[in-house]
Amino acid sequence: MRNKISIIGAGFVGSTTAHWVAEKEIGDIVLLDIPATDTMPKGKALDLLEAGPVLGYDTHIVGTTDYKDTADSDIVVITAGLPRKPGMTREDLVGKNQAIITDVVNNVVKTSPNAILIVVTNPLDTMAYLAHKVSGLPRHRVIGQAGVLDSARMRTFIAQELNVSVQNTHAFVLGGHGDEMVPLVRYSTVAGVPITELMPADRVTAIVDRTRKGGGEIVNLLKTGSAYFAPGAAVAEMVEAILKDRKLILPCAAYLDGEYGLKDMYFGVPVKLGRDGIEEIVQIKLLPDEQEMLNKSAELVRGTMSALKF
Ligand code: APR
Repeated sequence: MRNKISIIGAGFVGSTTAHWVAEKEIGDIVLLDIPATDTMPKGKALDLLEAGPVLGYDTHIVGTTDYKDTADSDIVVITAGLPRKPGMTREDLVGKNQAIITDVVNNVVKTSPNAILIVVTNPLDTMAYLAHKVSGLPRHRVIGQAGVLDSARMRTFIAQELNVSVQNTHAFVLGGHGDEMVPLVRYSTVAGVPITELMPADRVTAIVDRTRKGGGEIVNLLKTGSAYFAPGAAVAEMVEAILKDRKLILPCAAYLDGEYGLKDMYFGVPVKLGRDGIEEIVQIKLLPDEQEMLNKSAELVRGTMSALKF
């Protein structure tokens, strides 16, 4: 039996995720959006399907506005939501996206009770927490995508700086998906060597800073929206790790229950991804200043979470 991956929200992130997932041939794809989008999801799905013969994939892809078509998905990726518009406070955005995520999750748990959810909608940690609460699913089946993207950005900058293959780079970005995220330089390496030994301290600082502002950098360049190629690729890697039961350790937003000294919140930490979703929260030893940075990031996430209304 083929795996089934549903993607809720057929906008930029949703359709790009479908594109990367289709190429991996790891399951069939359903792309869903709201009825107001009419036949748009069908159009995007058909277009992607027709790329199959050129690229050589046999992935089935359908577009829909009806949750019935998503029934019994193995994985549901949630990208539905509004972006922050000028003049909108973070709280306004939380309010609008709370309504959307609640609607989506209620539909998803009814039609795909056994699915693993991957949340992409921002503000990420808060929306992942909301999806966990609304779904009533165990924490290992509700995962937030942020760390893979943030780490990929950091790896890009490291590779550029040292003129090496991105494949030689490794980076760990933990914490909330915002300006206070925590790029761990000690654990960021090129061919196993910490970057602190490969470049001057001011270059490390510049890379950390650019990583933290990586989302904003794209927004400023695009002017009409936020990133979607790299976010979609990051989700595809998570989907593949789960469906292939790879036990791949990746930084993801997970529900913490005391790990890293934090409780009752979603936060970016290293996790082991396999067929059951989050199979382990990997606890790495942090230095006091690193833990302090994580605490500061957690405070910011809690501030955003406080705008949720139950
Ligand atoms: N159910 C399903 N889809 C919905 C719903 C809903 N209740 N409400 C909105 N959508 C759809 C919209 O119709 C739109 O097609 O979500 C899609 C969002 O797409 P875009 O506006 O293109 O936004 P995108 O760039 O894809 O970002 C989506 O991902 O990275 C995050 O910050 C980003 O929160 C944002 C999300």
